[in-house]
Amino acid sequence: MYTLESINQKVDSAIKQLDLNGEPRNLYEPIVYIMGMGGKRIRPALVLAACNLYSDDIDRALPAALAVEVFHNFTLVHDDIMDNADMRRGTVTIHKKWNPNIAILSGDAMTVLAYNLLVKVDRTILPEVVEIFNSFAMGICEGQQMDMDFESKNMVSRNEHLKMIELKTSILLKGALQIGAVIGGAGKDDVELIGEFGRSMGLAFQLQDDLLDCYGDSSTFGKRIGGDIVAAKKTMLTIITAEKLNGTERNQFIELYNSNSLPDEVKISKVMDFYNKSEVQKEMVSIIDTYFDKATQAINQLKASETRKDVLNQILTKLIGRKN
Ligand code: IPE
Ligand code: IPE
Ligand code: MG
Ligand code: MG
Ligand code: MG
Repeated sequence: MYTLESINQKVDSAIKQLDLNGEPRNLYEPIVYIMGMGGKRIRPALVLAACNLYSDDIDRALPAALAVEVFHNFTLVHDDIMDNADMRRGTVTIHKKWNPNIAILSGDAMTVLAYNLLVKVDRTILPEVVEIFNSFAMGICEGQQMDMDFESKNMVSRNEHLKMIELKTSILLKGALQIGAVIGGAGKDDVELIGEFGRSMGLAFQLQDDLLDCYGDSSTFGKRIGGDIVAAKKTMLTIITAEKLNGTERNQFIELYNSNSLPDEVKISKVMDFYNKSEVQKEMVSIIDTYFDKATQAINQLKASETRKDVLNQILTKLIGRKN
């Protein structure tokens, strides 16, 4: 059985050993850059931890774990173009350091790299693993499109929002866990249940990300604070605030939130005033707690041994308390 620390070490050293160099430099350098700047690397850890619930041979799951992390990094490269983000993991984003075309193409190359790693999975389970992988890959595209479509909608409902974050974020955590479980030899019921865990954890994770986008500290979060406000992203914070206001105030808030005529810092500060007055932070924490509990319940129902489930509980607790 592996501890979370040893799983993380395995992931870090495997990423270090990836041969990402090649010519032309402008294609490969951005890949080395994004893969080398770390991040939490939770998704490959989830693949290995899920595998370790059922098997001690977690090296078998390493190529798939890497495939998931490379794919995640690709989504970030393209996401930063779509969100016009200047900063990621405390450094300048690829499309700003190089240019958008380079970021698009390096991102494309990363999907190929991800599939190259994925096909190293044992042939007997490869079709099942590829099906999970393709299903989250398509789901992320759907979620990302919804996220962009919402920028130009005045407001969205909680359910529309939850559907969107389930697709853009949860689906990858869910898929990472399910791939790990399948490689480890889990039964059908556990593959379903571990997916449930990933879904709830993913929702809590994205809600936490959206909270940090407003209330975090950019030196630890590694991203610009207020980026979601500038882009008029319809986050749960926006929805809760709109729900709590009525009449003229609600209209003022919605108009402000969707405007792009104010200087960024002015818009951020005005929106934050509405958020603070609506005590949105408190409500966000309580929604996140609800999904945390749902995730814990799913872990409890897994057939795997209790001691092995500890790592999943540790990952969940760390993620929900995260500041980065
Ligand atoms: C960022 O994911 C994208 C979201 C789904 C919010 P992470 O917060 O896992 O990013 P890194 O990989 O640790 O930088
Ligand atoms: C991330 O959503 C979802 C994907 C990258 C697929 P965000 O746009 O909120 O992620 P960050 O905040 O840029 O990391
Ligand atoms: Mg983004
Ligand atoms: Mg985005
Ligand atoms: Mg975000």
